[in-house]
Amino acid sequence: MSENFFDLTGQVAVVTGASRGLGQYFARALARAGADLVLTSRDANALTPFVKEIEALGRRAVPLALDVRDHDSIQRMAEQASAAYEQLHILVNNAGCNVRKPALDITWDDWNLVLDTNLRGSFFVAQAIARQMLPHGYGRIINIGSVTSVMGYAGLAPYTASRGGIRQLTMSLAADWGGQGVTVNCLAPGWFRTEQNKVLYEDAGWVDYLVERIPVRRPGAPNDLDGAVVFLASEASRYVTGQTLLIDGGISTGALRATVSKRS
Ligand SMILES: NC(=O)c1ccc[n+]([C@@H]2O[C@H](COP(=O)([O-])OP(=O)(O)OC[C@H]3O[C@@H](n4cnc5c(N)ncnc54)[C@H](OP(=O)(O)O)[C@@H]3O)[C@@H](O)[C@H]2O)c1
Repeated sequence: MSENFFDLTGQVAVVTGASRGLGQYFARALARAGADLVLTSRDANALTPFVKEIEALGRRAVPLALDVRDHDSIQRMAEQASAAYEQLHILVNNAGCNVRKPALDITWDDWNLVLDTNLRGSFFVAQAIARQMLPHGYGRIINIGSVTSVMGYAGLAPYTASRGGIRQLTMSLAADWGGQGVTVNCLAPGWFRTEQNKVLYEDAGWVDYLVERIPVRRPGAPNDLDGAVVFLASEASRYVTGQTLLIDGGISTGALRATVSKRS
């Protein structure tokens, strides 16, 4: 074992939903820590520029097609990933989507889209990759949750239900596989500026409203997640399982100001 607890040299990480956004942040951080990668998107060709970026870091990256709403696609991805590498050490279960609407406007299909992608998809990807990890007696599964795993937000009913479910799922899978060397944790980001949150970040009033409620007084920046994903992927977290680690500048504390504003 390396003396550097955070060194991922010689390890392989599967990162789902790596065509843009947080999936790419996670993949970059793991590659910089030494890991080779499997990257997925529904359109594997869309991964080409990112594969080149990872290869320029001196790491290997295998692009694979994956639709987490399709069980056969999940099985295929897991088989192709284990054919490409001797062992899969890390899974970042990141692929996800959102439908942002008032609760009364949510349709049956909206609900199914969000829950099937975020919750059912994450479970069956974890199951398929755990089948490859368990015979080796080692694995680090990182489910991506959200600040909505622990807090409610107007306009996000199916999304918060899916992310709350991810937190609970993480605890159960940790209990299922912990005795066999596979840890399962949930990394829960706050509000980052990606395609998924574009509409919010285009509204300066909303950004002010958000920042006022974040104890560190700024929105999340891409590399704010690096340390947490490497920690949960590495030897450093060997006695941590079933946990939800919130990387959110403290917004999930719900700590509101209880002092009177200064008036000039
Ligand atoms: N941004 C935030 O502040 C934030 C905060 C907390 C949690 N999250 C969660 O973190 C994850 C990434 O967020 P993001 O902001 O980077 O989102 P994003 O920009 O919308 O990217 C979502 C990723 O998921 C993939 N994806 C969507 N549906 C899929 C499906 N059916 N099968 C396979 N892949 C699918 C997309 O890949 P393709 O379209 O190429 O298939 C894309 O790479 C999501 O699960 C999100 O809910 C985000």
